[in-house]
Amino acid sequence: MSIRSKRKDEHIKLAEKFYSQKKINSFDEMHIIRPALPEASVSKTILRTKMFGKDLAAPFFINAMTGGSQKAYAINQSLGKIASKTQIALALGSASILIKEHDQLDSFIVAREENPEGVIIANVNAATSANDAQKIVSELKADALQIHLNAVQEIAMPEGERKFYWLDNLRKLRQQITVPLVIKEVGFGLDRATIHLLKNEGFSLFDIAGSGGTNFAQIENARNQSDLSYLETVGLPTVISAIMAKKEKVDFIVSGGIRNPLDVLKALCLGGKYVGIANTFLQVLIKNDADTLLQMILNWQKELAGLLAIYGQTDLQTVSSIPKYYDLQLQNWLQQL
Ligand code: FNR
Repeated sequence: MSIRSKRKDEHIKLAEKFYSQKKINSFDEMHIIRPALPEASVSKTILRTKMFGKDLAAPFFINAMTGGSQKAYAINQSLGKIASKTQIALALGSASILIKEHDQLDSFIVAREENPEGVIIANVNAATSANDAQKIVSELKADALQIHLNAVQEIAMPEGERKFYWLDNLRKLRQQITVPLVIKEVGFGLDRATIHLLKNEGFSLFDIAGSGGTNFAQIENARNQSDLSYLETVGLPTVISAIMAKKEKVDFIVSGGIRNPLDVLKALCLGGKYVGIANTFLQVLIKNDADTLLQMILNWQKELAGLLAIYGQTDLQTVSSIPKYYDLQLQNWLQQL
């Protein structure tokens, strides 16, 4: 097995090791107010939305995780099937591995084969050349391309990147890639200045991927000889990062630490157009099987429709008008930013 494939498998293993259903995060410090008189009924059709021109059953999706090993093949096959049956979008893990190891293509393409009509989002690192990225988009018949900004993860990786000049390459990607682009963090949160800068460069969709869920400093630290555990605290919490994105008036995806349908609703209240879930779904698949995750996603769709009703919502477009308040610590951070 190549070093890169081994790394992919280690990420899956360590994401499992460090996962905790009970982990608290910034969503616990955010509260939304429910009208005692909702004047609404439960309807799954309210959840329906469009992403990159295709119809979807719900605004939440499976975020980027894997590809590039045998284990990743099996996971992407299951995720492709589940995405197809539940009509939600699926982002695949970084396909930058294909530049050096093209024989790993099957482990990505399998998701497209299982989900020929649905939304599949490819993912590359910010140093990937426009030619390579376009080839990946074409090979996966991707509807969009996520470009991940993962400086903290790289610095925590013994074999990671040490040069973080990505802007010029991002400009080239923006000019040459033929599908919509998503600028994405990997769990440390997009900051307002970066969103502002990239908005001015013409990028229009951001996945803020804040802290509170999967922590790649923790994952990489476990693969490391030296102790870099202090990096585990440097992330920008998801709720804060989302509020920053909203202030920049860009379209954005809220992700990082989504644990249940109430978190999804809060993410939509923050103004997220879509909501991404990675490890919460992966753990159900790994610990059980594809049918269990399929059922869970169908349940989330039902439960989210139920939540919308008790919060008096009849249209996804107006969810961000639900009144909200924040606990003192979060409020304090927000006042300073
Ligand atoms: C990830 N994530 C990720 N992100 C990305 O842009 N490219 C990638 O290849 C990967 N790989 C990956 C592997 C595994 C096993 C996990 C769990 C996650 C990050 C992911 O898309 C997401 O941004 C973070 O995990 C935060 O979301 P959750 O896990 O808290 O929902």
